Amino acid sequence: MSELDSVLAHIDADIDNAIARLFDTLRLKSISTDPAYDAETRACAEWHAADLASIGFEASVRDTAGHPMVVGHDRGTSGTSVLFYGHYDVQPVDPLDLWDHDPFAPSIETRADGSKFIVGRGAADDKGQLMTFVEACRAWKAVTGKLPIAVTILLEGEEESGGVNLPPFLDANADELRADVALICDTNMWDKETPAITTSLRGLCGEEIIIHAADRDLHSGFYGSAAANPNHVLARILADLRDESGRITLPGFYDGVPELPEALRESWAKLDFSEKDFLGEVGLSVPAGEKGRSVLEMVWSRPTCEVNGMGGGYQGAGFKTVIPATASAKISFRLVFDQDPHKVRNAFRAFVNARIPADCRVEFIEHGAGRAVAFDTSAPVFQSTLTALSEEWGKDAAFVGGGGSIPVTTMIKERMGMDVVMAGFGLSDDRIHSPNEKYELVSFHKGIRSWARILAAL
Ligand code: BES
Repeated sequence: MSELDSVLAHIDADIDNAIARLFDTLRLKSISTDPAYDAETRACAEWHAADLASIGFEASVRDTAGHPMVVGHDRGTSGTSVLFYGHYDVQPVDPLDLWDHDPFAPSIETRADGSKFIVGRGAADDKGQLMTFVEACRAWKAVTGKLPIAVTILLEGEEESGGVNLPPFLDANADELRADVALICDTNMWDKETPAITTSLRGLCGEEIIIHAADRDLHSGFYGSAAANPNHVLARILADLRDESGRITLPGFYDGVPELPEALRESWAKLDFSEKDFLGEVGLSVPAGEKGRSVLEMVWSRPTCEVNGMGGGYQGAGFKTVIPATASAKISFRLVFDQDPHKVRNAFRAFVNARIPADCRVEFIEHGAGRAVAFDTSAPVFQSTLTALSEEWGKDAAFVGGGGSIPVTTMIKERMGMDVVMAGFGLSDDRIHSPNEKYELVSFHKGIRSWARILAAL
C-alpha cells in the first residue's frame, strides 16, 4: 500500500470524527457582518486555531482592526509550499422562519435514494469546504507523521462582510504567507459528478444609498404629491440602471470589458450546460440579463448590477398611508476582466447625484471593492491538481469560470504575485447565503480525499 493509499484509507475510517469536528465549528455563530456576534466570531477563530494546533500546526489567532485571522504553519517535508485560504465567517441567517431547523444546530439528512447531506449555516460556505483541506492535512499527519509539502493556512473572519482588514494584513505579513502557490476551497464542482477548478471570478463593488427628503414621515393624504417621496426617487434611480436590452446604463461601465476570448468560448462550449436546467432548478425559465448572450457568459464573463436589498416606508402587516422620510438600497456590481471598481463607484455616484431632485439628498455608504481575477492555467500546478481531482472522482475535471467573488484571490495574485488554484466541492443547489444551506456528504468526504491526493501531487 502506498503512503497515499494509507492516507485515503485513514480518511474513510475517520469520516465520522471529521463530521463531528465540522459540526463543532458549524455550531459557532460567526456572522461577521453583525456586531451582535463579535464574541462568537472570535470564539470560532479560537476554535480553528486550537484545531490546527491539535494537528501539529504552529497556529495563532491574529488580531486585526476587525475580526481576527487564524494563521497556521506546518513545515512539511519537501521544498514545495502552499498557502491555503478559507473563511470561517458566515452570512446572516435571516429569514429564520424559512429554515427547517436551527441554522446553528447542524444535522445530517438522508434522501429517499440514500444520499446524505449536511445542513447548517456555513455547511458549504465555507466551513465545510475549508475543513476538507484541514482534514486532509490531519490524515497525512496521522498516517505519516508529516505533510508531504509545507503548508500555511490562513482563515479569514470577514470574507462575507467586505474584508477591509485583509489587504493590510496580507501586506504586513506577505513574507510569512508567501508560498509557491495558493489553494482555495470555496467554489463549486461543475456538477455533482464532475470536479472543477475555477479559473476566474468576478470582482465586486458594493454601495448603499440612503435618500432623505422631509425631516419626518408624513401623512400621505396631507402631503401626497406636494412632498418629495424618497421611495419614488429611489425606484426611478434603480430602474434607470438597466435598459430594455439588459445592459447597465452607467456611463463607462463597460470600459475594460472585452468580448469573450475565443479560447475560453471554445472551452466553455465543451461543457455540457443546460440553461433550462440551471434556471429551472430555482423555479425560473427566461434569462433576464443582456439580450443575445448565453447564460454562462452572463454569469462568468459579463458584469452586472444587482439590487440586493431595498427599503423605505411601511413594511409591516396591513397598510399605512405614509410618505417616508428616507428610502434606501444596497447595490452590488459584479465586475469582469479589467473593470475598475473605483471608477464604477464614481460613475454610480455621479449617476445617482444627477437624479436627486430638489429637497432630497443622498448619503452613500461604501461596501467593499475588488477587481475580477483570472488565471492562465498553463502553470503545471493547475494540471497536477486537475489530474488528482480526476483520479478521485473517476471523471475528467473541468476548468470553469465563477460568477461569485472571493476578494482574497485577486489580492493574492496582485499583491503577492502567486497563482491561486480554486478547487471546491460545492454544488449550485447548496443554497449558500440562503435558508437551509447544505453540503453533500459526498462533497465533504471526497473533498478531503481530493486534497489528500493534491497534497501528494504537489
Ligand atoms: N464561496 C463564495 C463565492 C463563490 C461561490 C464563488 C461559488 C464561486 C462559486 C464566497 O464565499 C462568497 O459568497 N463571496 C461573496 C463575497 C462578497 C460578500 C464580497 C460573494 O460572492 O457574494
